[in-house]
Amino acid sequence: MNKIEVRGLSKSYKERRKKRRSPGDCGYRHGCPVLQDLDFRIEEGSFTCFIGPSGCGKSTLFRIMAGFEKPTTGEVLVDGVPISGPSTRHIFVFQEDGLFPWMTAMENVALGAGRFSDPVEREREIRDFLDMVGLKGFENHYPHELSGGMRRRAEVARALIANPEILLMDEPFGALDFITRLQMREEMVNVHQMFDSTILFITHDIDEALQLGDRIIMLSGRPSSVKADIPLPFPHPRDLAIGEMASLRKEIYFHIGIHAAL
Ligand SMILES: Nc1ncnc2c1ncn2[C@@H]1O[C@H](COP(=O)(O)OP(=O)(O)OP(=O)(O)O)[C@@H](O)[C@H]1O
Ligand SMILES: [Mg+2]
Repeated sequence: MNKIEVRGLSKSYKERRKKRRSPGDCGYRHGCPVLQDLDFRIEEGSFTCFIGPSGCGKSTLFRIMAGFEKPTTGEVLVDGVPISGPSTRHIFVFQEDGLFPWMTAMENVALGAGRFSDPVEREREIRDFLDMVGLKGFENHYPHELSGGMRRRAEVARALIANPEILLMDEPFGALDFITRLQMREEMVNVHQMFDSTILFITHDIDEALQLGDRIIMLSGRPSSVKADIPLPFPHPRDLAIGEMASLRKEIYFHIGIHAAL
């Protein structure tokens, strides 16, 4: 069943400078087109990775799908109903820091734990989720007392504990060190198997997308359209170095013009 439907979606931003052409002026009278005629459907409970060049409009697309921004044309439907604004059914893990600086890690994660009415159960769940993302012992630390990677992990815990219908994650592991990133990838695979959330995930890392996704949607450069839509019907854990995964990986690298450093 389709959870999300994106229909004929385009987005242009108005230009700020009207008179003089600046070097960055895109030259369009009605604004700079960022997204152009996007059409796709996302199956309920699936894990879809979005990849595309920097500035192509991935975060813009996610803000629109989360209801924070309106498209210029087209629409997004969730469960067949056009979205009209943000909802607690969709949780967004932002590309930038999103923790509240005046709250401890535990208090931040507690914001996502409203579904647990029993305070003892709630505290146990919060501790379990913090433990899962490797933050045991840091429950009472404030964001400024955590490293950048730890803050990201606390934010991921806050999103996961809410068990949202739709989880939009904008490069959630982008700032993490390589090892932590691999650990988080493993956790995400477990999370996807344990929860029913429909997960949408932006990454610049093709291997990460291949490891995690049921599908990869590749966006072209700006104005962005769907360049390739690649199903990944492979069981987990996945070894990218062998068989069909290895040839698919090569194909995607070639697709984006990388012929060496594989
Ligand atoms: N509020 C805004 N007003 C005007 N232009 C914007 C606005 N938000 C984004 N843009 C422009 O839209 C384009 C797409 O931005 P977006 O942040 O969606 O890209 P992205 O694909 O997420 O990039 P990255 O991979 O670097 O995060 C950029 O050229 C950006 O300058
Ligand atoms: Mg972005």
